[in-house]
Amino acid sequence: MKIKIQQGKLEKFAGDLIVVNLFQGIKQSGAGTGAVNRVLGGLITKMIKEEGFEGKEGEMMIIPTFGKIKAKKILLLGMGQQEKFDLDAVRRVTAVSVKKARELKMRRVGTILHGAGVGGLSTEQAAQALTEGALLGGYTFLKYKSGEDKYKAKFPAEIIIIDHGDKGKIKAIESGVKLGTVYTAATNYARDLVNEPSSKMFPKTLAEEAVKIAGAAEETMSRVAPAAEIWSRGAAPGISVKVYEQKEIEKMGMGGLLGVAKGSDHLPYFVHLVWKPELKNFKTKKQKNLKKVALVGKSITFDSGGLSLKTAEGMTSMKIDMAGGAAILGIFHALKRLKPNIEAHGILPICENMPSGRSLKPGDVLKTMSGKTIEVLNTDAEGRIILADGLYYASRLKPDFIIDLATLTGACVVALGEEVAGVMGSDRFLLDMIEGAAVRSGEKIWELPLIEEYRQFIKKSPVADLTNITMPKIGGGAITAGLFLHEFVGKIPWAHIDIAGPAWAEKDVVPYVQRGGSGFGVRMGLELIRQLSQQ
Ligand code: BES
Ligand code: ZN
Ligand code: ZN
Repeated sequence: MKIKIQQGKLEKFAGDLIVVNLFQGIKQSGAGTGAVNRVLGGLITKMIKEEGFEGKEGEMMIIPTFGKIKAKKILLLGMGQQEKFDLDAVRRVTAVSVKKARELKMRRVGTILHGAGVGGLSTEQAAQALTEGALLGGYTFLKYKSGEDKYKAKFPAEIIIIDHGDKGKIKAIESGVKLGTVYTAATNYARDLVNEPSSKMFPKTLAEEAVKIAGAAEETMSRVAPAAEIWSRGAAPGISVKVYEQKEIEKMGMGGLLGVAKGSDHLPYFVHLVWKPELKNFKTKKQKNLKKVALVGKSITFDSGGLSLKTAEGMTSMKIDMAGGAAILGIFHALKRLKPNIEAHGILPICENMPSGRSLKPGDVLKTMSGKTIEVLNTDAEGRIILADGLYYASRLKPDFIIDLATLTGACVVALGEEVAGVMGSDRFLLDMIEGAAVRSGEKIWELPLIEEYRQFIKKSPVADLTNITMPKIGGGAITAGLFLHEFVGKIPWAHIDIAGPAWAEKDVVPYVQRGGSGFGVRMGLELIRQLSQQ
């Protein structure tokens, strides 16, 4: 599906379907809808009355044009209440209309730019949100499908934003569409990685994806080359990657990652991606202010629980346990195109959590890269163990901020449900920035308190510095997991985003998120990076 822009009159659009809109309870429709209504001799107004169309969000009515205009059909789309209308509503209603167009097998769809007129949103933002709604809403993971689904996904082939305004507006629409396209390509790429079955997505496969993202030479894609080799190869402008293999991971002393990986037939990898902007045009003073951010993503390609085995039901969706890492690869996918003025590091500790004769066992003690030791009381609380090494590695880069994304706890899903990520951290400024980014991207997050009173309950091991679950059990599992991670970041401003709920969609709740991997965190991360970036 492509998003295009066309200048001209909506009613003259020569495609299959024209999407017009109506706010709830508002009699006077916007200019575009009004013009189409006039050439159809007031048919839209008549149908609204006859069918009792109210304009509720996502409400739809198909109106035939009987050859009066070139387009075959009109889709009247409800926008909901005008007071409640925002950017995310643009995404939602657009996704609903795209799905309808697909159902009707419409190839070329012309549309009003929802929200830019009556809705009061900026033209650029509305165009970006429309693009996101269409391309995220139209996403399907087709790799293992055959037949009808594959055929249907070809529709619509084009969404054409019709602009009947002046030339200045076109520029704003163009830049909105461009941003929206980059954001969704990155998100859908992360979705693809998460949707891939774990029988095809091994630690090595994910590490190879990082190499592809960096655009390193073709031959390195077929196998993951040792660290120094790829590092020095000088990948595509801006991005470089270092992939550590088992031996180098051992050398770095990452006992956490090695411990969790032990039970699997597949070796662990540790990925470090770097985005550096072109500094040529920078004045020295500005260079000094260049922000440095490290993003760390939990990358367990399958979480069986290990010897503390999950239930059959608890395991069904556990290929998603690398969604944090996938989101970071998604972000780097877009950085190449957005070229922000920021130094960004992407860090992925990658392995599989499996039971076997070689597995990590309850009671085992692991020594992490930081020197701190962990008594493993439950091998299913493995995310925090590999992140301990990932976060410590990140802290040694001395970034201004560290943010981790992780499908970390079922407790977070219990607390906030499947649509909302839990966020916690050590720095108010960073947390506020993340909150702002999430509002703009339409991803829902809620802050949980990292209260100090709970910290003592991960420090009661008789044999190690920390336990990987609380001793005794105290509830608040999302928070105690956050406190555990905090032990490995030192004083660097840090935030942790627990995406266990929203990384995976089980039901159709948000119209632009299909069931399966959601790509949660990619657009929010990009918004944050763009804000931290010096324009
Ligand atoms: N990967 C899971 C968390 C998870 C649960 C992600 C549901 C997505 C959906 C994590 O490794 C895990 O198993 N956590 C345990 C921790 C417990 C043993 C303290 C959990 O949440 O049950
Ligand atoms: Zn687990
Ligand atoms: Zn896990």
